[in-house]
Amino acid sequence: MNDPDQHYWTSNPDAPSAPRQVELLLPDVHLSLTTDRGVFSADQVDRGTRFLLLEGPPPLASAQNLLDVGCGYGPIACSLAVRHPQSHVWAVDTNQRALALCRTNAEKAGLTNVTACLPEEVPEGIVFDAFWSNPPIRIGKPALHDLLLHWLHRLSSTGEAHLVVQRHLGADSLARWLDDQGWLTVRRNSRKGFRLLDVERKVSS
Ligand SMILES: C[S@@+](CC[C@H](N)C(=O)[O-])C[C@H]1O[C@@H](n2cnc3c(N)ncnc32)[C@H](O)[C@@H]1O
Repeated sequence: MNDPDQHYWTSNPDAPSAPRQVELLLPDVHLSLTTDRGVFSADQVDRGTRFLLLEGPPPLASAQNLLDVGCGYGPIACSLAVRHPQSHVWAVDTNQRALALCRTNAEKAGLTNVTACLPEEVPEGIVFDAFWSNPPIRIGKPALHDLLLHWLHRLSSTGEAHLVVQRHLGADSLARWLDDQGWLTVRRNSRKGFRLLDVERKVSS
């Protein structure tokens, strides 16, 4: 990005646009995605994202609404939409360039079950069966905690979140913090410095 103070979550990146294609190849999903300067991991699908898509669980077949928190150009949202054509996938981000790319990528793949929008544009009444996220750890702990709690509270009573976080960026302390906040947080898998965390409501005894 031109301005060294700008981050990938800035709302309107000022880096001149330079679109490019990246391939997302999974056993069950093949997507050619357009990325651009000013968005997260523009040159290749992030390794953590790929790990989440390979090792995360399938959402319930009956899921109505799925969510990708911090969708970027849409690798998670579009994969969920391919895998779950009966579900609607909400993809939220603060970066307008990323949202535009996510919309374009869904459209190019013929996916009509994706809505990419700002977090505040998600209608209030919607309850999510699951959310998946490679969350924006670098926005700092207070903002990250607020973000995760906000969307966790919008899960259905049986809903789950699936997060990928780098160990050296605080995955284990984030898991402990979530647990302390009343969210059962289990490490599903761990590989090459990434943790996959499953988060659900604790059942009160
Ligand atoms: C680590 S990136 C992951 C992007 C994409 N899901 C991927 O896997 O390539 C995190 C994303 O969260 C977005 N983000 C930052 N703050 C946010 C917020 N408050 N609400 C929603 N998204 C946010 C960033 O703009 C960025 O696109």
